Amino acid sequence: MSCVAVLRCLGAHCPRSPHRQFSSFLLNRSIQENGELKIESKIEEIIEPLREKIRDLEKSFTQKYPPVKFLSEKDRKRILITGGAGFVGSHLTDKLMMDGHEVTVVDNFFTGRKRNVEHWIGHENFELINHDVVEPLYIEVDQIYHLASPASPPNYMYNPIKTLKTNTIGTLNMLGLAKRVGARLLLASTSEVYGDPEVHPQSEDYWGHVNPIGPRACYDEGKRVAETMCYAYMKQEGVEVRVARIFNTFGPRMHMNDGRVVSNFILQALQGEPLTVYGSGSQTRAFQYVSDLVNGLVALMNSNVSSPVNLGNPEEHTILEFAQLIKNLVGSGSEIQFLSEAQDDPQKRKPDIKKAKLMLGWEPVVPLEEGLNKAIHYFRKELEYQANNQYIPKPKPARVKKGRTRHS
Ligand SMILES: NC(=O)c1ccc[n+]([C@@H]2O[C@H](COP(=O)([O-])OP(=O)(O)OC[C@H]3O[C@@H](n4cnc5c(N)ncnc54)[C@H](O)[C@@H]3O)[C@@H](O)[C@H]2O)c1
Repeated sequence: MSCVAVLRCLGAHCPRSPHRQFSSFLLNRSIQENGELKIESKIEEIIEPLREKIRDLEKSFTQKYPPVKFLSEKDRKRILITGGAGFVGSHLTDKLMMDGHEVTVVDNFFTGRKRNVEHWIGHENFELINHDVVEPLYIEVDQIYHLASPASPPNYMYNPIKTLKTNTIGTLNMLGLAKRVGARLLLASTSEVYGDPEVHPQSEDYWGHVNPIGPRACYDEGKRVAETMCYAYMKQEGVEVRVARIFNTFGPRMHMNDGRVVSNFILQALQGEPLTVYGSGSQTRAFQYVSDLVNGLVALMNSNVSSPVNLGNPEEHTILEFAQLIKNLVGSGSEIQFLSEAQDDPQKRKPDIKKAKLMLGWEPVVPLEEGLNKAIHYFRKELEYQANNQYIPKPKPARVKKGRTRHS
């Protein structure tokens, strides 16, 4: 029996006694207290879920950023990454942020995306600036990783004049900045400076075989002159430069529909479409995983090697091997479709990385299958994301050269 019920009983048995008055006083008080208790518990019921939400919010706030090392002022560098919201640049941002440096990303979002670096926005060591490197930039930094440039054929051929301006005026601006603030600059150059190579594998002392007026010249020649500018600034102005000649790279955040062989095969396999192989598929390609490249870039920046260094994976696979491997890893029922051979499709492309091994102690370590699995996982998630946003990218045909399609 509850306390209130006991008091009610007492009052009923002795109607006029002082006992009754006392018990009715107790009864009233108890009813009042009981009411208050009920209100309190109601309020508690409403408040508890709110408290839980606040706890979750606090948790998500403190766990918002990936773990970042603490570096003392003397070891912490102020680092600028141009093109830092792109595929390679965003992975480089992750590495340098997690190593404890202060990173400023400059990007005009031509091919880059805020989503690639959004996980750092708000972090005290991170800044994102929407800026075109064709315009001068005035900031204080210790190192500049100059990556800003469209990198895939459809992107750099979309506006060849802009590609040229980015690689020439943009590079001059960044070298000017490096000179003013005494920063070291690393240029993200490319294996395309070797053009359609006549030597295999390509080592750094090969001068290349580039058509200066072809459709790809805006990129190939743009990067070649960017290298020339670096060495002119080094000789004339004493700017410390590093030049990385980057070979084909793949991984999460790469562009899904730029017509390159890895992205094409993954998209086709995931969408249940035939994997298109041009010719017999016996031509070979070599791809490095993006984390290997990032480690190479950081090693080169912090080395004393000022001459160009190849960064790539020399492990060659035939195009057909790539198609079969990707099909199996995706678990796709897609067929492999053979299309007519492209006339000028290079039969081989392979970096010579002896210099990087010897002078940087660097070589790629991520096995192809492991890297492909990560890229497939990313593409799968992206397709889901795109589907939710009503946009499904279609694999593009391999890139066009002299009117013919070819593998890149
Ligand atoms: N990915 C590869 O396989 C590869 C191979 C060789 C060389 N590279 C070089 O590495 C660098 C990065 O390539 P990626 O694959 O990450 O390409 P990406 O297109 O993903 O990244 C390039 C970034 O530069 C930005 N950018 C372009 N023009 C700019 C401008 N004028 N001002 C400011 N930002 C600008 C883009 O918005 C993008 O974020 C490029 O310089 C490219 O030439 C890449």
